[in-house]
Amino acid sequence: MSDGENRGRCTVVLGGQWGDEGKGKVVDVLAEESDIIARYQGGANAGHTVHVGDEEFILHQIPSGILHPEKRCLLGNGVVLDPIQFFREYDEAESRGVSLDGRVGVSLRAQLLLPYHRLLDQIREGKTTKKIGTTGRGIGPAYEEKIGRRGIRVVDLKDEQEARERLTEGRERARARLAALGETDLGAVEACVEDAMAIRERLLSLATDVGLEIHEAIKSGKKILLEGAQGTALDIDHGTYPYVTSSTTTAGGAASGSGIGPTAIHRILGVVKAYITRVGNGPLPTALPPAMDEKVRTLGAEFGATTGRPRRCGWFDGVLARYSARVNGLTGLVVTKLDVLDTLPEISVANAYRTPEGELTEFPADNRSLANAEPVYETMPGWESSTAEARKVEDLPRNARAYLDRLEEITSTPIDMIGVGTRRRQIIHVA
Ligand code: GDP
Ligand code: IMO
Ligand code: MG
Repeated sequence: MSDGENRGRCTVVLGGQWGDEGKGKVVDVLAEESDIIARYQGGANAGHTVHVGDEEFILHQIPSGILHPEKRCLLGNGVVLDPIQFFREYDEAESRGVSLDGRVGVSLRAQLLLPYHRLLDQIREGKTTKKIGTTGRGIGPAYEEKIGRRGIRVVDLKDEQEARERLTEGRERARARLAALGETDLGAVEACVEDAMAIRERLLSLATDVGLEIHEAIKSGKKILLEGAQGTALDIDHGTYPYVTSSTTTAGGAASGSGIGPTAIHRILGVVKAYITRVGNGPLPTALPPAMDEKVRTLGAEFGATTGRPRRCGWFDGVLARYSARVNGLTGLVVTKLDVLDTLPEISVANAYRTPEGELTEFPADNRSLANAEPVYETMPGWESSTAEARKVEDLPRNARAYLDRLEEITSTPIDMIGVGTRRRQIIHVA
């Protein structure tokens, strides 16, 4: 395991599987030793859960660092910013006693995600026979407009008249697309121009050049934490396309989505569960048979933080984890939810896939191979005792340590932290 010499300037925390790995909790823990926490991609499709005392916060749009008073929390240019959701979350946090005044900033270059993007997402998913199983938060349509160079950025709201024109154009474009889908009832979307104009000044009051702010903070010796959303296998390029999200969830996106150079990043942590889950459609090679799937879902409380959907559960997929280590250049792993496996007599890990084309040890590009892949499992004895109170590696049962050692071997990546419960203190710092 690594010796921790890397702790410092700019750390990325990202998902190494299909999302929901426990990034929110890890960011909350690492925020303690950071000055700035920034989201760099995705939008309100994310659902990051943080437990503080008896309170649970589920953050969709605002970085998971907000629960530490005094820390600066930023939303970078790579984010699609839903201003209505953003202020709903902002106000809710304040109403629960979290003071955000002066410590939240949004990038001038961030793209706006508007009610018509949500509607388009939901209507499209409703009508297609090849459903991706999106969160319905408008992510695909908003990124389509960005890449199509029709999107509206925060900075575009500065001029009042231009803002109104751009918003009206956007709404009319959405109306035409919805009409082509046979949808004429725009519902709440009718009011979107006025609704956006009403929060324009409030949003602009938080606008900042995020890349510049982070750059200057690094120069003055401050510590930065970049918070990823979703996971590696949901990446637009490296995931199980088209069953992916529409952004770069892998480490490269942390630089481009926050506006800093890749060389400023020195520590990249890939968060992985001690098993695996997936919500939404697409292949899951190590999926468990129904009774065991149900058992792990119950043990791990595996229901979506954004949509409440049940997550499919599987054994740890070493092929995917090795791929994540490679495409992200991981410096360390954070293995979460080890405690969920506490009662199991045996635990399996896949280290290869058997396919009609032969045995694969590298994650394939095509979903057909993944759908037909039969995992080659190694089965290890469980530890059948509680890990919840372990605070250092030596506190863990021998079989749990052997399991973690095997994950390190399979991924050729050191484990830096281990999660043994939902609470802040239920974490083991290895490094
Ligand atoms: P994220 O999207 O990656 O931030 O993860 P989610 O918040 O969607 O889902 C992770 C869930 O696991 C949340 O309910 C967390 O409270 C919980 N969690 C995180 N780490 C641990 C852990 O080490 N053990 C247990 N039992 N739960 C954890
Ligand atoms: P966090 O940050 C798990 C999945 C959806 C769907 C696909 C595309 O909490 O880990 P989208 O709405 O992005 O167009 O949906 O991606 N998905 C997630 N799965 N965790 C998430 O975020 C996810 N965000 C999107 O279920 O399969
Ligand atoms: Mg989540």
